[in-house]
Amino acid sequence: MTADIAVIGSITTDLVTYGRRRPASGETLAADDFAIGQGGKGANQAVAAARLGSKVLMLGRVGDDAFGRANRTALDAAGVDTRHVTVTPGCSSGVASIFVDAEGENAISIVAGANGRVAPADIDAAANELARCRLILLQLEIPLDTVRHALAFGRRHAIPTILNPAPAVDRLDPALIALADIVAPNEGELALLTGLPTQTDTEIEAAARHLVESGAKVVVVTLGARGALEVGRNGSRPVAPVAVRAVDTTGAGDAFIGALAHFRIAGLDDTQALARACAYAACSVTRRGAQSAYPTRDDFGRFLSSQ
Ligand code: RIB
Repeated sequence: MTADIAVIGSITTDLVTYGRRRPASGETLAADDFAIGQGGKGANQAVAAARLGSKVLMLGRVGDDAFGRANRTALDAAGVDTRHVTVTPGCSSGVASIFVDAEGENAISIVAGANGRVAPADIDAAANELARCRLILLQLEIPLDTVRHALAFGRRHAIPTILNPAPAVDRLDPALIALADIVAPNEGELALLTGLPTQTDTEIEAAARHLVESGAKVVVVTLGARGALEVGRNGSRPVAPVAVRAVDTTGAGDAFIGALAHFRIAGLDDTQALARACAYAACSVTRRGAQSAYPTRDDFGRFLSSQ
């Protein structure tokens, strides 16, 4: 299968606790519920695009353990091509401890495990398949050298790239950012990337513009329940939110990016693709978990008709 979209990134098991509020430091607090789910920003974006109907290739690593085997089974079940998901012996699979509060907001701590071993050589080993893709998605849960290598690969082969600079990195090298065609941070990540405040809409637009002036072609800032903002060299445009009652926002940004990639590849223009991606992310927060919350193309169609 020739993939439309290649995702080079993390594959993680999410250990999710649901409770009223996060425990304070030193406090023991009874929570309400627990679930084990499939996550990792890379795998989440791959599954979102695949559920919508794109042909997706995933490049990443898992450990030689039960979590890694379950990760691969879940990707296969979503129709993602896992031929370039390799097993790293002597290393755990990636794990995320997630706390979701009563408002559906989350706090996440991650152990990279095998995700930290994804290497530039893995990209070289998959070069033939990658060179046939139409879009490459990247995040920052794998080593930065590998992200840089993948962005340079995209540039050399004229394959557009979307960089989701998450989790946030303080003042990421502007030369790396400039290699991406679209940079898609949330407000917090944008603040760390630029060193600028992002408390108000004006500040967010100014910080995104700063990224564009430092070399990014297009910046798409995800704003959660407030939609998104696209800033490019020719101006900026807000993307209206879709109002829903959020039960769990985990992986909503990944749903947005996977859907944005899918709808761009499907031929929608920029405005339509951004609006659809916002709606897909909104739909995802109405259910628990990351990948477990991502609708299929049919479910998403029903969600859109109900709006
Ligand atoms: O973006 C959400 C994801 O971040 C979770 O699925 C978790 O695995 C962490 O990587």
